[in-house]
Amino acid sequence: MKLVVLASGEGTNLQAIIDAINSKILENISIEYVISDNPEAYALKRAKKYGINTILISKSNMREILYRHFKLVDLVVLAGFMKILPPELIEDNKIINLHPSLLPLFGGKGMFGLRVHRAVIESGMKVSGATVHFVTADVDAGPIIMQECVPVDPYDTPESLQEKVHKVEQRILIKSIQIIERGNYKIEGKKVIY
Ligand code: GAR
Repeated sequence: MKLVVLASGEGTNLQAIIDAINSKILENISIEYVISDNPEAYALKRAKKYGINTILISKSNMREILYRHFKLVDLVVLAGFMKILPPELIEDNKIINLHPSLLPLFGGKGMFGLRVHRAVIESGMKVSGATVHFVTADVDAGPIIMQECVPVDPYDTPESLQEKVHKVEQRILIKSIQIIERGNYKIEGKKVIY
């Protein structure tokens, strides 16, 4: 299964996919391209280190470049991609997104990165977590593939909560890619059954 990974920042989740491929936890999977909207994204450096093709997009060419490359792969993974995809690029069950909260809580436009963790802490919630879901035209609202919780402790900061969430998101991202590669799942409405 060929992947394209879209990432805007650090790329720790991209690194988790690379490591899982190299250690054969993910089998029959290759990353064909890493695409970023941010020239400073450390994710691009990580990709280059492993000889993966990197592509930088801008506002004006994003639609065309993404359209072209989505056609060349089996699965699109949004791993910390901070732009919202144009709806015409969204193909059913072909794009997955990683989100740093327990959706449908703390999702939607403007909810990304540390903003999510800040909102969780301000809400007083005692748990947070991460979600991997299929992308649909409604932002952060597609069928959920996998979630995992972390506790929110009284003295957590957005940064400390982010660190905890990072650990679980890497795990559920890899497991979700495995489920899709094996193909033994079905989608019924909002539910992904496997
Ligand atoms: C991750 O925590 C991911 O869940 C979040 O960005 C971070 C990227 O980390 N994604 C979103 O907020 C999308 N709405 P990384 O660059 O180290 O993988």
